[in-house]
Amino acid sequence: MNGKPRSLLGIEPLTSRQIIDFLSAARKMDPKRPRTTLRGRRIALLFYENSTRTRVSFEVAAKSLGASTVVMHASSSSIEKGESLKDTGLTLQSIVDAIVVRHPNSGAPTLLSRILDIPIVNAGDGMHEHPSQALLDAFTILEHKKTLKGLKIVTVGDIYHSRVARSDAHLFTKLGAHVTFCGPEVLLPEEATQLAPGIRIVRDMDEALTGADVVMMLRVQQERLSGLQINLDEYIRRYQLNPRRVKLAKKNALVMHPGPMIRGMEMTDEVADGPQSVVLEQVLNGVKVRMAILASILGGRR
Ligand code: CP
Repeated sequence: MNGKPRSLLGIEPLTSRQIIDFLSAARKMDPKRPRTTLRGRRIALLFYENSTRTRVSFEVAAKSLGASTVVMHASSSSIEKGESLKDTGLTLQSIVDAIVVRHPNSGAPTLLSRILDIPIVNAGDGMHEHPSQALLDAFTILEHKKTLKGLKIVTVGDIYHSRVARSDAHLFTKLGAHVTFCGPEVLLPEEATQLAPGIRIVRDMDEALTGADVVMMLRVQQERLSGLQINLDEYIRRYQLNPRRVKLAKKNALVMHPGPMIRGMEMTDEVADGPQSVVLEQVLNGVKVRMAILASILGGRR
């Protein structure tokens, strides 16, 4: 890989070439055909927040490359006794060759990468970035569309708090797609347009979806809606993806969701399980993409 990054901390610092190299490497990966690329390597999966998809797929990816894994949850480690992120990182560095970290604070993986000498992979940090999710989202789109260039990708939901929306927006615009954000005003700050060049904000969902090639639905926490005094029924009326709304997008538009998905709120069952939904393909592709990430940052490094 040309200009291979030492760690994967976000999509924003990557060049388009580096993104394309990750995606090309993922195309060659298949968890059903295990490799020995990382035989003898140990990878810590350090999760300070809950996860199903990201943790499981990083673990399967590491094992499919011959590495062994150590899974650590904040609730069952010395973190619970007050150990700092720095000391936890220094301790793990004595034992493992790389750390995949999810943390509620934006910048935690970057902090670890400055302190430690081993590669760090960001598995989601606060409201900042979720780079492996953006790579798997792009990979999934490219299995159905020839290129991202010129595609209209509409992201709907809680954009403000979403690290997925941020990483996706960086990646999609770097590869030439047109990104539209749609959601309630309080979950859709004006600064969102400064994230990446050319991002549009459209408040009306029907208008936003018209002519879309990809509809990316995001998770919306019900507690957050009530905290912001947004009525749940009103949210569903204005922002739920239902069969009528899917028809506003292009005929072959993809319906995506990074998960976890709240059925009946963000989208209806008919849409979630419908022919245009690629939600489960995203999960499978997550393993391939994470194999490519681990092989790229650890392969050949001793
Ligand atoms: N998309 C995603 O990050 O899902 P998990 O929280 O289950 O890992």
